[in-house]
Amino acid sequence: MQYQAILIGLDVFSAFAQPLYITCYPLPDMSTCKSPNTVVYRGNIDRCARERQNGHRSKAFWFTGLSGSGKSTLAHKVEEELYAQGIRTYVFDGDNVRHGLCGDLSFSPEGRSENLRRIGEMVKLFLDAGTLCLTAFISPLKEDREKVRRIVGADDFFEIYVKCSLDVCEKRDVKGLYKLARAGKIKNYTGISAPYDEPEHPDLVVETHRCDLATCVDQITAYIHNHL
Ligand code: ADX
Repeated sequence: MQYQAILIGLDVFSAFAQPLYITCYPLPDMSTCKSPNTVVYRGNIDRCARERQNGHRSKAFWFTGLSGSGKSTLAHKVEEELYAQGIRTYVFDGDNVRHGLCGDLSFSPEGRSENLRRIGEMVKLFLDAGTLCLTAFISPLKEDREKVRRIVGADDFFEIYVKCSLDVCEKRDVKGLYKLARAGKIKNYTGISAPYDEPEHPDLVVETHRCDLATCVDQITAYIHNHL
């Protein structure tokens, strides 16, 4: 990734314009940008300032796992804990964003890849806004998770594998979708007719088929506090 040093706080209206300090930002990937004649504007209030005001750093905790593994439940429970501790959080949830921002995307490999790219870019903006991000997406392919890590920035990105056997997810079948997938009524269903690449080196693994909800929430909350 390329970085650009930017002068922050340069008052162009002042005859005595002085840069206040210099900071580094990842440069946008211009190879895929279709609006090339644009220039990034940086205001005086930056991520550091917002983090200082919030009293904590902003980082992204990316939950990946099969449908029904417990990603959303865990992300929202963890958010409740952090919220009660005064931490500014936001949960990006697969089912929710597919009703809005990503409502035009299917579950084809291309649709999933674009879904995750958009969320990666959104998360990057939220990190800039000083918010701790929790995301709950199946994010089945290693390649797409790596792309998101690059978009967000490796230093800010933590992968949490919400591990649960397909057998248990299928037995839970909270939304009844596994049944439909087995009957061939839903195509490209992760774990049934579409692949899930198990994370090889996740930052944290929680096993929801072995541990109860409270234990998993405690594990994740403790991990987050150690990495803020
Ligand atoms: S991802 O693969 O692009 O990361 P995402 O997390 O947004 O998926 O959405 C997953 C949710 O969509 C599941 O929890 C399930 O409720 C629903 N869903 C509908 N169709 C599918 C499908 N073909 N494969 C997986 N999940 C599906």
